Amino acid sequence: MPTPLAMYPALSILKLAVLFGLASSASPSDVVLCGKYENYTTPSGAFTFSTNQWGADGSGEDCITIFNNGTMFNSTWKWSHNPQSVHSFPNINLNSAKLPLQLSNLSALNIGASWTMAPASRTKKKSLAAISAAADVVVDMFADLDPTRADSTTLPQYEVMIWFAAFDGKKPIGYSSSITNPPTQTLNDTDFSLYMGPNTNGQYVYSWLASSNVNNFDTDISPLLHYLWREKYISESNYLGVVQFGSETFHATSNVTFSVRNFNMSIEAGTPKPTTSAATPSSTSSSAPNPKKSQASGRFNPSLALVMMVTTICTICSWVILGT
Ligand SMILES: *[C@@H]1O[C@H](CO)[C@@H](O)[C@H](O)[C@H]1NC(C)=O
Ligand SMILES: *[C@@H]1O[C@H](CO)[C@@H](O)[C@H](O)[C@H]1NC(C)=O
Ligand SMILES: *[C@@H]1O[C@H](CO)[C@@H](O)[C@H](O)[C@H]1NC(C)=O
Ligand SMILES: *[C@@H]1O[C@H](CO)[C@@H](O)[C@H](O)[C@H]1NC(C)=O
Ligand SMILES: *[C@@H]1O[C@H](CO)[C@@H](O)[C@H](O)[C@H]1NC(C)=O
Ligand SMILES: *[C@@H]1O[C@H](CO)[C@@H](O)[C@H](O)[C@H]1NC(C)=O
Ligand SMILES: *[C@@H]1O[C@H](CO)[C@@H](O)[C@H](O)[C@H]1NC(C)=O
Repeated sequence: MPTPLAMYPALSILKLAVLFGLASSASPSDVVLCGKYENYTTPSGAFTFSTNQWGADGSGEDCITIFNNGTMFNSTWKWSHNPQSVHSFPNINLNSAKLPLQLSNLSALNIGASWTMAPASRTKKKSLAAISAAADVVVDMFADLDPTRADSTTLPQYEVMIWFAAFDGKKPIGYSSSITNPPTQTLNDTDFSLYMGPNTNGQYVYSWLASSNVNNFDTDISPLLHYLWREKYISESNYLGVVQFGSETFHATSNVTFSVRNFNMSIEAGTPKPTTSAATPSSTSSSAPNPKKSQASGRFNPSLALVMMVTTICTICSWVILGT
Protein backbone atom coordinates (compact mmCIF):
# COMPACT_ATOMS: atom_id res chain seq x y z
CA MET A 1 0.00 0.00 0.00
CA PRO A 2 2.67 2.63 0.80
CA THR A 3 4.28 4.18 -2.25
CA PRO A 4 7.72 5.62 -1.62
CA LEU A 5 9.35 5.19 -4.99
CA ALA A 6 11.84 2.43 -5.41
CA MET A 7 13.52 1.11 -8.49
CA TYR A 8 13.44 -2.59 -9.08
CA PRO A 9 17.04 -3.83 -9.36
CA ALA A 10 18.04 -3.52 -13.01
CA LEU A 11 19.68 -6.94 -13.20
CA SER A 12 16.56 -8.76 -11.95
CA ILE A 13 14.41 -6.91 -14.49
CA LEU A 14 16.71 -8.05 -17.25
CA LYS A 15 16.57 -11.64 -16.00
CA LEU A 16 12.77 -11.56 -15.71
CA ALA A 17 12.45 -9.93 -19.10
CA VAL A 18 14.62 -12.49 -20.85
CA LEU A 19 12.86 -15.32 -19.06
CA PHE A 20 9.40 -14.12 -20.04
CA GLY A 21 10.59 -12.97 -23.44
CA LEU A 22 11.40 -16.58 -24.28
CA ALA A 23 8.34 -18.02 -22.60
CA SER A 24 5.69 -15.74 -24.12
CA SER A 25 4.99 -13.44 -27.05
CA ALA A 26 6.60 -10.50 -25.22
CA SER A 27 9.72 -9.09 -26.85
CA PRO A 28 13.01 -9.45 -24.90
CA SER A 29 13.08 -5.74 -24.10
CA ASP A 30 9.77 -5.92 -22.25
CA VAL A 31 9.77 -5.77 -18.47
CA VAL A 32 7.60 -8.32 -16.66
CA LEU A 33 6.76 -7.99 -12.97
CA CYS A 34 4.76 -10.65 -11.10
CA GLY A 35 5.56 -10.29 -7.40
CA LYS A 36 3.48 -8.67 -4.72
CA TYR A 37 5.29 -5.31 -4.58
CA GLU A 38 7.49 -4.95 -7.66
CA ASN A 39 8.30 -1.68 -9.35
CA TYR A 40 9.89 -0.46 -12.54
CA THR A 41 10.88 3.15 -13.18
CA THR A 42 11.12 4.30 -16.81
CA PRO A 43 14.52 5.52 -18.09
CA SER A 44 13.36 9.14 -18.01
CA GLY A 45 12.38 8.70 -14.36
CA ALA A 46 8.93 10.14 -15.06
CA PHE A 47 6.88 7.05 -14.20
CA THR A 48 7.04 4.06 -11.89
CA PHE A 49 4.98 0.96 -12.66
CA SER A 50 3.95 -1.16 -9.67
CA THR A 51 2.24 -4.49 -9.19
CA ASN A 52 0.87 -3.38 -5.78
CA GLN A 53 -0.94 -6.61 -4.87
CA TRP A 54 -1.86 -5.21 -1.47
CA GLY A 55 -4.94 -7.41 -1.10
CA ALA A 56 -3.49 -10.63 -2.54
CA ASP A 57 -5.15 -13.61 -0.83
CA GLY A 58 -3.49 -16.48 -2.66
CA SER A 59 -6.53 -17.01 -4.90
CA GLY A 60 -4.86 -15.78 -8.08
CA GLU A 61 -2.11 -13.67 -9.58
CA ASP A 62 -1.36 -10.47 -11.45
CA CYS A 63 1.61 -9.94 -13.78
CA ILE A 64 2.34 -6.69 -15.55
CA THR A 65 4.25 -6.39 -18.82
CA ILE A 66 5.70 -2.98 -19.66
CA PHE A 67 6.55 -2.40 -23.32
CA ASN A 68 7.08 0.22 -25.99
CA ASN A 69 9.58 2.11 -23.86
CA GLY A 70 7.28 2.49 -20.87
CA THR A 71 4.34 3.99 -22.79
CA MET A 72 2.26 0.80 -22.75
CA PHE A 73 1.49 -1.91 -20.25
CA ASN A 74 -0.65 -4.99 -19.81
CA SER A 75 -1.79 -6.37 -16.50
CA THR A 76 -3.07 -9.94 -16.67
CA TRP A 77 -4.84 -11.08 -13.54
CA LYS A 78 -7.36 -13.35 -11.89
CA TRP A 79 -8.62 -13.66 -8.29
CA SER A 80 -11.16 -16.36 -7.48
CA HIS A 81 -11.94 -15.56 -3.82
CA ASN A 82 -13.37 -12.57 -1.90
CA PRO A 83 -15.09 -10.84 -4.85
CA GLN A 84 -15.89 -7.75 -2.75
CA SER A 85 -12.22 -7.01 -1.93
CA VAL A 86 -9.56 -5.20 -3.91
CA HIS A 87 -6.72 -7.67 -4.52
CA SER A 88 -4.29 -5.55 -6.51
CA PHE A 89 -3.83 -2.10 -7.96
CA PRO A 90 -1.47 -2.45 -10.93
CA ASN A 91 -0.62 1.19 -11.54
CA ILE A 92 1.61 3.89 -12.95
CA ASN A 93 2.86 6.52 -10.50
CA LEU A 94 3.66 10.06 -11.63
CA ASN A 95 7.16 11.00 -10.43
CA SER A 96 7.56 14.77 -10.47
CA ALA A 97 9.82 17.19 -8.66
CA LYS A 98 6.75 19.46 -8.51
CA LEU A 99 5.02 17.05 -6.11
CA PRO A 100 3.93 17.57 -3.39
CA LEU A 101 2.13 20.59 -4.85
CA GLN A 102 -0.43 22.76 -3.09
CA LEU A 103 -3.83 22.71 -4.80
CA SER A 104 -3.72 26.52 -4.90
CA ASN A 105 -0.58 26.14 -7.06
CA LEU A 106 -1.90 23.45 -9.44
CA SER A 107 -2.41 24.78 -12.94
CA ALA A 108 -2.89 21.48 -14.80
CA LEU A 109 -2.83 17.73 -14.25
CA ASN A 110 -2.90 16.15 -17.69
CA ILE A 111 -3.70 12.48 -17.94
CA GLY A 112 -4.13 10.54 -21.16
CA ALA A 113 -4.63 6.86 -21.90
CA SER A 114 -6.39 4.42 -24.19
CA TRP A 115 -7.19 1.18 -22.48
CA THR A 116 -9.13 -2.06 -22.81
CA MET A 117 -10.29 -4.60 -20.24
CA ALA A 118 -11.11 -8.03 -21.65
CA PRO A 119 -10.75 -11.75 -21.03
CA ALA A 120 -7.08 -12.63 -21.72
CA SER A 121 -6.44 -13.73 -25.28
CA ARG A 122 -5.73 -17.34 -24.25
CA THR A 123 -9.05 -17.49 -22.41
CA LYS A 124 -11.89 -19.04 -24.41
CA LYS A 125 -14.51 -16.87 -22.70
CA LYS A 126 -15.76 -13.95 -24.77
CA SER A 127 -17.00 -11.49 -22.15
CA LEU A 128 -16.01 -10.12 -18.78
CA ALA A 129 -19.46 -11.01 -17.44
CA ALA A 130 -18.89 -14.67 -18.40
CA ILE A 131 -15.92 -14.79 -16.01
CA SER A 132 -17.56 -12.61 -13.30
CA ALA A 133 -14.87 -9.96 -13.72
CA ALA A 134 -15.07 -7.06 -11.27
CA ALA A 135 -12.66 -4.13 -11.49
CA ASP A 136 -12.41 -0.39 -11.92
CA VAL A 137 -10.13 1.97 -13.87
CA VAL A 138 -9.14 4.98 -11.82
CA VAL A 139 -6.83 7.84 -11.11
CA ASP A 140 -5.98 7.60 -7.41
CA MET A 141 -4.62 10.67 -5.64
CA PHE A 142 -3.72 11.63 -2.08
CA ALA A 143 -3.58 15.03 -0.40
CA ASP A 144 -2.74 16.43 3.02
CA LEU A 145 -2.02 19.78 4.67
CA ASP A 146 1.43 18.43 5.58
CA PRO A 147 3.58 18.02 2.42
CA THR A 148 5.59 15.18 3.99
CA ARG A 149 2.49 13.17 4.89
CA ALA A 150 1.02 13.92 1.45
CA ASP A 151 3.77 11.84 -0.19
CA SER A 152 2.21 8.53 0.86
CA THR A 153 -0.92 6.50 0.21
CA THR A 154 -1.66 5.72 3.87
CA LEU A 155 -0.86 8.89 5.87
CA PRO A 156 -2.77 11.63 4.01
CA GLN A 157 -6.12 12.85 5.30
CA TYR A 158 -7.70 12.80 1.83
CA GLU A 159 -7.92 10.38 -1.06
CA VAL A 160 -9.36 11.69 -4.34
CA MET A 161 -10.32 9.21 -7.04
CA ILE A 162 -11.51 9.60 -10.60
CA TRP A 163 -13.41 6.56 -11.81
CA PHE A 164 -13.15 6.30 -15.59
CA ALA A 165 -14.77 2.87 -15.56
CA ALA A 166 -16.33 0.22 -13.38
CA PHE A 167 -17.11 -3.42 -14.15
CA ASP A 168 -19.63 -5.69 -12.42
CA GLY A 169 -21.36 -2.76 -10.76
CA LYS A 170 -18.43 -1.59 -8.63
CA LYS A 171 -19.12 1.82 -7.07
CA PRO A 172 -17.03 4.36 -5.15
CA ILE A 173 -17.18 4.80 -1.37
CA GLY A 174 -20.28 6.79 -0.39
CA TYR A 175 -22.21 5.85 -3.53
CA SER A 176 -25.90 5.22 -3.05
CA SER A 177 -28.62 4.95 -5.66
CA SER A 178 -30.73 7.12 -3.35
CA ILE A 179 -28.39 10.07 -4.05
CA THR A 180 -30.35 11.35 -7.03
CA ASN A 181 -28.62 14.64 -7.70
CA PRO A 182 -24.91 14.47 -6.80
CA PRO A 183 -22.58 17.37 -7.68
CA THR A 184 -21.58 16.90 -11.32
CA GLN A 185 -18.75 18.27 -13.43
CA THR A 186 -18.26 17.87 -17.16
CA LEU A 187 -14.76 17.17 -18.49
CA ASN A 188 -14.33 16.80 -22.23
CA ASP A 189 -17.98 15.81 -22.74
CA THR A 190 -18.03 13.28 -19.91
CA ASP A 191 -20.12 13.88 -16.79
CA PHE A 192 -18.47 12.96 -13.49
CA SER A 193 -20.53 12.76 -10.29
CA LEU A 194 -19.10 13.21 -6.82
CA TYR A 195 -19.50 10.67 -4.00
CA MET A 196 -17.74 10.77 -0.66
CA GLY A 197 -17.13 8.92 2.56
CA PRO A 198 -14.45 7.51 4.87
CA ASN A 199 -12.36 4.44 4.01
CA THR A 200 -11.26 1.72 6.45
CA ASN A 201 -7.91 3.50 6.85
CA GLY A 202 -9.61 6.57 8.35
CA GLN A 203 -9.05 8.70 5.25
CA TYR A 204 -11.85 10.75 3.72
CA VAL A 205 -12.40 9.76 0.09
CA TYR A 206 -13.82 11.98 -2.67
CA SER A 207 -14.64 10.02 -5.82
CA TRP A 208 -15.68 11.34 -9.22
CA LEU A 209 -17.59 8.63 -11.11
CA ALA A 210 -17.95 8.85 -14.91
CA SER A 211 -21.55 8.46 -16.09
CA SER A 212 -20.39 5.67 -18.43
CA ASN A 213 -17.07 3.92 -19.02
CA VAL A 214 -14.47 6.10 -20.78
CA ASN A 215 -11.83 4.11 -22.71
CA ASN A 216 -9.93 7.00 -24.33
CA PHE A 217 -9.09 10.27 -22.71
CA ASP A 218 -6.42 12.92 -22.75
CA THR A 219 -7.47 15.74 -20.54
CA ASP A 220 -6.60 18.11 -17.72
CA ILE A 221 -8.31 16.66 -14.65
CA SER A 222 -7.37 19.55 -12.32
CA PRO A 223 -10.93 21.02 -12.43
CA LEU A 224 -12.11 17.96 -10.47
CA LEU A 225 -9.57 18.75 -7.72
CA HIS A 226 -10.23 22.49 -7.75
CA TYR A 227 -13.97 21.89 -7.43
CA LEU A 228 -13.31 20.42 -3.96
CA TRP A 229 -11.81 23.62 -2.52
CA ARG A 230 -13.95 25.99 -4.55
CA GLU A 231 -17.03 24.30 -3.05
CA LYS A 232 -15.44 24.21 0.44
CA TYR A 233 -15.09 20.44 0.83
CA ILE A 234 -11.34 20.72 1.50
CA SER A 235 -8.83 23.56 1.79
CA GLU A 236 -6.78 24.71 -1.21
CA SER A 237 -3.76 24.61 1.15
CA ASN A 238 -3.72 20.82 0.90
CA TYR A 239 -0.73 19.35 -0.92
CA LEU A 240 -1.34 16.86 -3.70
CA GLY A 241 1.34 14.25 -3.04
CA VAL A 242 0.57 11.07 -4.97
CA VAL A 243 -0.96 10.63 -8.45
CA GLN A 244 -1.44 7.10 -9.84
CA PHE A 245 -3.39 5.64 -12.75
CA GLY A 246 -4.39 2.00 -12.77
CA SER A 247 -7.04 -0.63 -12.15
CA GLU A 248 -8.30 -1.98 -8.85
CA THR A 249 -8.85 -5.68 -9.48
CA PHE A 250 -11.52 -7.46 -7.41
CA HIS A 251 -12.51 -10.74 -8.99
CA ALA A 252 -12.43 -12.96 -12.07
CA THR A 253 -12.67 -16.71 -12.54
CA SER A 254 -10.12 -16.70 -15.39
CA ASN A 255 -7.47 -14.30 -16.66
CA VAL A 256 -8.40 -10.72 -17.55
CA THR A 257 -6.04 -8.37 -19.40
CA PHE A 258 -6.09 -4.67 -18.62
CA SER A 259 -4.15 -3.17 -21.53
CA VAL A 260 -3.04 0.48 -21.54
CA ARG A 261 -1.69 2.35 -24.59
CA ASN A 262 -0.75 5.96 -25.32
CA PHE A 263 -0.23 6.62 -21.68
CA ASN A 264 0.96 9.98 -20.37
CA MET A 265 0.67 12.13 -17.24
CA SER A 266 2.12 15.54 -16.51
CA ILE A 267 1.67 18.23 -13.90
CA GLU A 268 2.02 22.01 -14.15
CA ALA A 269 2.42 24.43 -11.26
CA GLY A 270 0.79 27.83 -11.34
CA THR A 271 -2.50 29.62 -10.87
CA PRO A 272 -5.53 27.31 -11.13
CA LYS A 273 -7.55 27.98 -14.25
CA PRO A 274 -10.93 29.63 -13.67
CA THR A 275 -13.95 27.38 -14.00
CA THR A 276 -16.12 27.61 -17.08
CA SER A 277 -19.89 27.88 -16.92
CA ALA A 278 -20.18 24.49 -18.62
CA ALA A 279 -18.31 22.88 -15.75
CA THR A 280 -20.65 24.24 -13.07
CA PRO A 281 -24.24 23.30 -13.90
CA SER A 282 -26.60 25.18 -11.62
CA SER A 283 -28.68 22.06 -10.95
CA THR A 284 -25.86 20.63 -8.83
CA SER A 285 -25.55 23.39 -6.27
CA SER A 286 -28.78 22.64 -4.41
CA SER A 287 -27.79 19.07 -3.63
CA ALA A 288 -24.16 19.71 -2.63
CA PRO A 289 -23.84 18.49 0.97
CA ASN A 290 -21.55 21.40 1.90
CA PRO A 291 -23.47 24.65 1.60
CA LYS A 292 -21.53 27.21 -0.37
CA LYS A 293 -20.21 30.01 1.79
CA SER A 294 -18.42 32.90 0.12
CA GLN A 295 -17.69 32.53 -3.56
CA ALA A 296 -14.01 31.76 -4.05
CA SER A 297 -12.12 34.21 -6.26
CA GLY A 298 -11.33 31.63 -8.95
CA ARG A 299 -14.97 30.83 -9.70
CA PHE A 300 -16.79 31.71 -12.91
CA ASN A 301 -17.65 35.36 -12.70
CA PRO A 302 -20.80 36.42 -14.62
CA SER A 303 -19.93 40.14 -14.56
CA LEU A 304 -16.45 39.43 -15.93
CA ALA A 305 -18.07 37.38 -18.73
CA LEU A 306 -20.38 40.32 -19.48
CA VAL A 307 -17.43 42.73 -19.65
CA MET A 308 -15.63 40.34 -22.02
CA MET A 309 -18.74 40.00 -24.19
CA VAL A 310 -19.24 43.77 -24.38
CA THR A 311 -15.53 44.24 -25.19
CA THR A 312 -15.80 41.69 -28.01
CA ILE A 313 -18.93 43.32 -29.43
CA CYS A 314 -17.32 46.79 -29.23
CA THR A 315 -14.21 45.48 -31.00
CA ILE A 316 -16.40 44.11 -33.82
CA CYS A 317 -18.31 47.45 -33.80
CA SER A 318 -15.08 49.42 -34.20
CA TRP A 319 -14.00 47.20 -37.13
CA VAL A 320 -17.34 47.83 -38.79
CA ILE A 321 -17.14 51.58 -38.09
CA LEU A 322 -13.50 51.83 -39.24
CA GLY A 323 -14.23 49.66 -42.27
CA THR A 324 -17.15 51.85 -43.52
C1 LIG B 1 8.05 -1.29 -4.64
O1 LIG B 1 7.45 -0.14 -4.08
C2 LIG B 1 6.74 -0.43 -2.88
C3 LIG B 1 6.00 0.80 -2.51
O2 LIG B 1 6.87 1.87 -2.47
C4 LIG B 1 7.73 -0.86 -1.81
O3 LIG B 1 7.05 -1.13 -0.59
C5 LIG B 1 8.44 -2.10 -2.29
O4 LIG B 1 9.44 -2.46 -1.38
C6 LIG B 1 9.07 -1.89 -3.66
N1 LIG B 1 9.53 -3.15 -4.15
C7 LIG B 1 10.81 -3.44 -4.39
C8 LIG B 1 11.09 -4.83 -4.90
O5 LIG B 1 11.70 -2.64 -4.21
C1 LIG C 1 -1.38 -6.68 -24.40
O1 LIG C 1 -2.78 -6.90 -24.41
C2 LIG C 1 -3.37 -6.70 -25.68
C3 LIG C 1 -4.88 -6.79 -25.50
O2 LIG C 1 -5.23 -7.97 -24.87
C4 LIG C 1 -2.81 -7.73 -26.65
O3 LIG C 1 -3.35 -7.53 -27.93
C5 LIG C 1 -1.28 -7.60 -26.71
O4 LIG C 1 -0.75 -8.63 -27.50
C6 LIG C 1 -0.68 -7.68 -25.33
N1 LIG C 1 0.74 -7.40 -25.42
C7 LIG C 1 1.65 -8.05 -24.71
C8 LIG C 1 3.09 -7.64 -24.92
O5 LIG C 1 1.37 -8.93 -23.91
C1 LIG D 1 12.80 5.67 -24.65
O1 LIG D 1 12.70 6.65 -23.61
C2 LIG D 1 13.94 7.28 -23.34
C3 LIG D 1 13.74 8.16 -22.13
O2 LIG D 1 12.59 8.95 -22.25
C4 LIG D 1 14.39 8.04 -24.56
O3 LIG D 1 15.64 8.65 -24.30
C5 LIG D 1 14.53 7.08 -25.73
O4 LIG D 1 14.84 7.80 -26.90
C6 LIG D 1 13.24 6.31 -25.94
N1 LIG D 1 13.44 5.28 -26.95
C7 LIG D 1 12.59 5.09 -27.95
C8 LIG D 1 12.92 3.97 -28.86
O5 LIG D 1 11.57 5.77 -28.08
C1 LIG E 1 -2.89 -16.09 -16.36
O1 LIG E 1 -2.01 -15.00 -16.23
C2 LIG E 1 -0.82 -15.28 -15.51
C3 LIG E 1 -0.02 -13.99 -15.44
O2 LIG E 1 -0.70 -13.03 -14.72
C4 LIG E 1 -0.02 -16.35 -16.20
O3 LIG E 1 1.11 -16.66 -15.41
C5 LIG E 1 -0.88 -17.58 -16.38
O4 LIG E 1 -0.16 -18.52 -17.15
C6 LIG E 1 -2.15 -17.22 -17.12
N1 LIG E 1 -3.02 -18.38 -17.17
C7 LIG E 1 -3.51 -18.85 -18.34
C8 LIG E 1 -4.39 -20.04 -18.22
O5 LIG E 1 -3.27 -18.30 -19.40
C1 LIG F 1 4.37 26.60 -7.04
O1 LIG F 1 5.07 25.43 -7.42
C2 LIG F 1 6.34 25.70 -8.01
C3 LIG F 1 6.89 24.37 -8.52
O2 LIG F 1 6.99 23.45 -7.49
C4 LIG F 1 7.23 26.40 -7.01
O3 LIG F 1 8.45 26.69 -7.62
C5 LIG F 1 6.57 27.66 -6.52
O4 LIG F 1 7.33 28.23 -5.50
C6 LIG F 1 5.17 27.36 -5.99
N1 LIG F 1 4.49 28.59 -5.68
C7 LIG F 1 3.81 28.75 -4.55
C8 LIG F 1 3.11 30.08 -4.40
O5 LIG F 1 3.75 27.90 -3.68
C1 LIG G 1 -11.15 14.86 -25.41
O1 LIG G 1 -11.15 13.46 -25.61
C2 LIG G 1 -10.69 13.07 -26.88
C3 LIG G 1 -10.88 11.58 -27.00
O2 LIG G 1 -10.06 10.92 -26.13
C4 LIG G 1 -9.25 13.49 -27.04
O3 LIG G 1 -8.76 13.10 -28.29
C5 LIG G 1 -9.13 14.98 -26.87
O4 LIG G 1 -7.79 15.35 -26.89
C6 LIG G 1 -9.74 15.40 -25.55
N1 LIG G 1 -9.77 16.84 -25.45
C7 LIG G 1 -9.32 17.48 -24.40
C8 LIG G 1 -9.43 18.96 -24.44
O5 LIG G 1 -8.86 16.91 -23.42
C1 LIG H 1 3.89 13.51 -22.11
O1 LIG H 1 3.54 14.82 -21.69
C2 LIG H 1 4.67 15.67 -21.58
C3 LIG H 1 4.19 16.98 -20.99
O2 LIG H 1 3.14 17.51 -21.73
C4 LIG H 1 5.33 15.85 -22.96
O3 LIG H 1 6.47 16.64 -22.85
C5 LIG H 1 5.70 14.47 -23.50
O4 LIG H 1 6.19 14.60 -24.82
C6 LIG H 1 4.52 13.53 -23.50
N1 LIG H 1 4.96 12.18 -23.86
C7 LIG H 1 4.33 11.44 -24.73
C8 LIG H 1 4.91 10.08 -24.97
O5 LIG H 1 3.31 11.82 -25.31
